[in-house]
Amino acid sequence: MAQAHEVNEQGYKIFKLGDFTFRRDEYFAHIGWPGGVHSISVENFLRALMRDVAWGFFYGTVSFDAVFGTTNHYGTVEVFVGLRNEAYWRNNKHFVQTFDSNQTTGIFKAILEDWTNEGFDPFAAPEETRIAFGPKHGSNRAAIERMRVTAKRMVGADGDATLRNDANGYKVNRQFAGYQPEKLEVHPEPGFENEVHAFDFFDYLMRSDVTWNPSVVSAVKHNLICATTEEYMLPVIHGNDRVEWFLQLSDQIDWLVYDGKTGKPRARVVAKAGDICAMPADIQHQGISPKRSMLLVWENGDSALPDLYASGKLKPYPVEF
Ligand code: PHB
Ligand code: FE
Repeated sequence: MAQAHEVNEQGYKIFKLGDFTFRRDEYFAHIGWPGGVHSISVENFLRALMRDVAWGFFYGTVSFDAVFGTTNHYGTVEVFVGLRNEAYWRNNKHFVQTFDSNQTTGIFKAILEDWTNEGFDPFAAPEETRIAFGPKHGSNRAAIERMRVTAKRMVGADGDATLRNDANGYKVNRQFAGYQPEKLEVHPEPGFENEVHAFDFFDYLMRSDVTWNPSVVSAVKHNLICATTEEYMLPVIHGNDRVEWFLQLSDQIDWLVYDGKTGKPRARVVAKAGDICAMPADIQHQGISPKRSMLLVWENGDSALPDLYASGKLKPYPVEF
């Protein structure tokens, strides 16, 4: 249903979702609910909101910070304050409402569109975008309405035009400038020239203009392998409802790991190029990447998994040592 929006002094619309109110000023997003107000730097808020919208609320919980977030129930979504922060729920200061996912996406998209100023790209690394702050000036629909590119066959094989290179405008990111692409040799048997193909995946991925946005590059049954380039910090704290794996392809990401229910710090996992690690199903994690790096994320999309972990039928970690 269309809402009539009040516009504040800085030129931004005020949004409502159930009993939540969303306002922004020059520097902050202010989230109101009947029990209080929580404020987040609007830059962080828009970066987190961009992911929550683009990922369809992702697997499990997407927290914008230690207080505010969403939990995906695949059709409905919980929007919450303090649910994964012991100081809130122990003192009964948490607040949760469940909404239809499509309705919530609609409102979140409208916030993103109205609150993103000209020149600010919520997917870009901080050094590669203008700022989010200030009174309302313009918009940036091109940045927030990006569509993922879908290959028809293996990237670059005959009949597919999605290979990225200088000629089609995908420039090498400044932080991967030193990489020397591999010269790949392919020796197909006669008659299979059109079936066998290879390309340098680093040469492809280092041209990505977005950060912290995994894209599916291989799918086998429920197994989704997702590639992404990372720089600065994951704008959300992710509380997964299943185990996921990270294979660090280049450089380094440090994963800050917190308890899933209380939010208390639990570990710091240092992942260097070639390292692989699993994130358990009972934690929250946020990555930091001081230099742009490449990461493969392996998610299992089986919809039976959240219940199996929540009920304890599956242990929260994948391996017993
Ligand atoms: C994650 O929460 O597991 C995640 C999200 C986005 C990324 C990488 C990892 O780019
Ligand atoms: Fe995650």
